Amino acid sequence: MVQNKIAILGGGNLGTAIARGVVKSKLSLASNITITRRHLAKIDHLKKEGFKLTSDNTFAIKNATLIILCVQPKQLAGLLAEISASIDSKKHILVSTITGITTDEIASLILKKVPIVRAMPNTAIAIGNSMTCLCAKDANEKQLTEIKNLFDGLGVTLVIEERLMKAATVLAASGIAFFMRYIRAATQGGIQLGFDAEEAQLIAAQTAKGAASLLLNQDSHPEIEIDKVTTPEGCTIAGLNEMEHHGLSSALIKGIIVSFEKISNIKK
Ligand SMILES: NC(=O)c1ccc[n+]([C@@H]2O[C@H](COP(=O)([O-])OP(=O)(O)OC[C@H]3O[C@@H](n4cnc5c(N)ncnc54)[C@H](OP(=O)(O)O)[C@@H]3O)[C@@H](O)[C@H]2O)c1
Repeated sequence: MVQNKIAILGGGNLGTAIARGVVKSKLSLASNITITRRHLAKIDHLKKEGFKLTSDNTFAIKNATLIILCVQPKQLAGLLAEISASIDSKKHILVSTITGITTDEIASLILKKVPIVRAMPNTAIAIGNSMTCLCAKDANEKQLTEIKNLFDGLGVTLVIEERLMKAATVLAASGIAFFMRYIRAATQGGIQLGFDAEEAQLIAAQTAKGAASLLLNQDSHPEIEIDKVTTPEGCTIAGLNEMEHHGLSSALIKGIIVSFEKISNIKK
């Protein structure tokens, strides 16, 4: 259980998912979490779940020690200008989930030295199954561990070098869309073979989960698992090779690289 009070600034999709995930994982009580946004009426329902709600970011961070920034990249400078005078370097730890903004850029907007942890989760954080990459600036071991423990309760966490944060965004955050497209395509194939859409999606999604679990739950490798299901002259190798002739692996690698190039060239 995280003892510290948490302020989530920006109660949109991700901010709300983190708040709910933290409570669901029993990492904190809802009453210890304050969520902010400007249009407060849109999250009024969260009051019933026990969260504290306010539009006043400065008030929200007053009693908190963890400040989780969950606004859109373009909204960050305004938000930090609003709260920077109230940030206490000795008390607060800043956690930024904001895509593409470095810890140096955040530090330069706050104009004071404060522990900053960048977190790149994905939308599976809403069900406690995120892949979250973390990196830190001016945070000591204890502070980084505290934030890691928080995100460990919301999925799997990896501490990485900041230079890899954009690559992590593509693999983990955009990765959700890439795997969804595979599942959707497999579902469409299943429908053509006679399943109704619901059955085909269940089979495709559970098979994807099973394949991932074979790698995550035992020390295996994709090629080892592929060899186990590809009988010589069989249907699996025929299908797999046909997919490769149409560029399956190549398309995935190229897509990941193009995504990375795009994120590297996004204007702030
Ligand atoms: N979704 C993902 O998979 C994902 C993954 C990793 C990282 N991220 C990053 O997480 C951040 C949030 O993404 P999102 O999808 O949750 O966006 P979102 O739904 O648009 O949420 C942003 C929220 O911030 C609020 N906000 C804006 N300015 C504010 C201010 N000055 N004070 C308080 N609240 C303010 C907005 O509400 P009001 O307009 O009512 O204020 C809005 O609800 C982004 O920077 C994104 O890059 C997202």
